[in-house]
Amino acid sequence: MLTIQKARSLHGTLSVPGDKSISHRSIMLGAIAEGDTVVRGFLKSADCLATLECFRRLGVSIEEVPASVSADPKEPSEEAALIIHGVGLHGLHAPDGVELNAENSGTTVRLLSGILAGQSFSSHITGDSSLQKRPMARIIRPLTEMGILVASNNDDNRLPLRIAGGVPRGIRYTSPVASAQVKSCVLLAGLYAEDPTFFTEPALSRNHTELMLGAFGGNLKIRKSRDSEAVTTILYPGTVLTGQNIIVPGDISSAAYFLAAGLLVRNSEVTLRNVGINETRDGMLRVIRAMGGQMTLSNVHMEGKEPVADITVSSSRLHGTEIGGALIPTLIDELPVIAVMAAAAEGKTVIRDAGELRVKESDRLAAIAENLRKMGIRVDESEDGMVIYGGTLSGAAVDPLGDHRLAMAFSVAGLISQTPTTILDETCVNISYPNFYGDLALLS
Ligand code: S3P
Repeated sequence: MLTIQKARSLHGTLSVPGDKSISHRSIMLGAIAEGDTVVRGFLKSADCLATLECFRRLGVSIEEVPASVSADPKEPSEEAALIIHGVGLHGLHAPDGVELNAENSGTTVRLLSGILAGQSFSSHITGDSSLQKRPMARIIRPLTEMGILVASNNDDNRLPLRIAGGVPRGIRYTSPVASAQVKSCVLLAGLYAEDPTFFTEPALSRNHTELMLGAFGGNLKIRKSRDSEAVTTILYPGTVLTGQNIIVPGDISSAAYFLAAGLLVRNSEVTLRNVGINETRDGMLRVIRAMGGQMTLSNVHMEGKEPVADITVSSSRLHGTEIGGALIPTLIDELPVIAVMAAAAEGKTVIRDAGELRVKESDRLAAIAENLRKMGIRVDESEDGMVIYGGTLSGAAVDPLGDHRLAMAFSVAGLISQTPTTILDETCVNISYPNFYGDLALLS
C-alpha cells in the first residue's frame, strides 16, 4: 500500500524507460531474423521480460550486456544492451513439453501466437489469471482462417491455447477492432505464408511492427481508404529478415503520467527526454493541446524509423474536450490518466468509441468511473466511454485491480487531491514501469 500526498510543485527532467511495444517487437523480430540484433534502451519490465523468457524457451540465445562506465574520459561509456542471436524464420525449437507463459502480457501472447502459427511444431501458451480472462477470439479467428489449428483448452476462446504450427495461408482479413496486437499477430503469421496477407482495420493502430519489419527487410505496403478511416496493411512474404541495431525510444505511455502531473500540479515544470512521438501513439499530445495545456516539443529527431522529442509541460488550467473515433487507438493506454486530467479540468470531457478499455488488464472504463466517483467527481459511464464533469478531487482508497495503468493514473490523481490517496497495491507498476515511484520522487 502506498499513500500519495498532495504535491506543492513538480520540477525536473526525466528520461522515461523504453517503449514497451517496441521492446517486445525488438526481441520477437530479432529472434526470427538472420544474424544478431543489438537492442539499446530495452524496457526491463515484467511484460517485456515475459517475452524474453518465451523466446529463450524457444531456443533463442539472448545476452544481456550491462552498462559500462568508461574510466577513460576519451572513451564513451556504453549503455546496457541486449544481443539477440537470431535463428531465422524457421530456427525456433519446440519448448520441450513446457507451456510458454506470457504472464500478464497481452502483447506477448497475441504477437507470439502469430509466430508460433508458422512453426513446424505445436505449442501451448498460457498467462496469469488476468490474461486468462482476456479475449483471444480476436486472434483465433484470423489464424483459423489462415488454416492454423488454434484450440482454447476450455473451449472459451481464452488461454491456455494450443497452436498447431503449419504453413499459414495468406488471407484478406478485416478486423472489427483497431488493435495493433491483432494486426501484428496476423502480419507475423503472414511472414510464413506463400501469398500476401491483407489486414484491414477500422482506424490505424500503432504501427511499430510494420516499421520494424520494414527495417529488418520485410516488404509491406499501406493503403488508406478514401471514404473512411480504415487502413489496409499488406505483407508480402518471402524476404529475408536481417538482424538490426535498435534504439528503443522512451515510452510515451509512461511519459503520459508525468505530462499530466506537470500540467495539473501548481507551480510545476517538467521535461521528459527522448519520448517516442510516432503519430500512431501521439493522441495524448493532441489532447493536451485541445485541453489548453502548455507544452513544447524540442530536439525532435528520428531514432531509426521512430520520431522522438523532448517534451516540456508546465502548470496549466485545462478545459474539457471530446475524444473519440480514429483518435482513440493513438491514446488507448493513456485514457486512464487523461480521465484524471478531465476530472481536474473546467467543464465536461466526453470520451466515446473506447469500448476496448473494457478488455484491457482490467475493465478500465468501470474502474476509472468508480474511482473518480470515490474522489468526488461526477462521471456518467456508457458502454464505450464516459462523460467526466471536472471538479475538485478528494483523496480515496484506490484498488488498482492489479492494473499498472490504473495504479499510475490514480497516483497522479493523488498528487492533486485535497486529502491523501492510497493505492492499495502499487507493485503492479512493475508491468510497464518498475521505477515509476522512484522517478516521481525525483520531480517532487
Ligand atoms: C499494444 C497494443 C495495444 C495496447 C497495448 C500494447 C501493442 O493493445 O493497449 O498496451 O504493443 O501492440 P491493442 O492492440 O489490443 O489495442
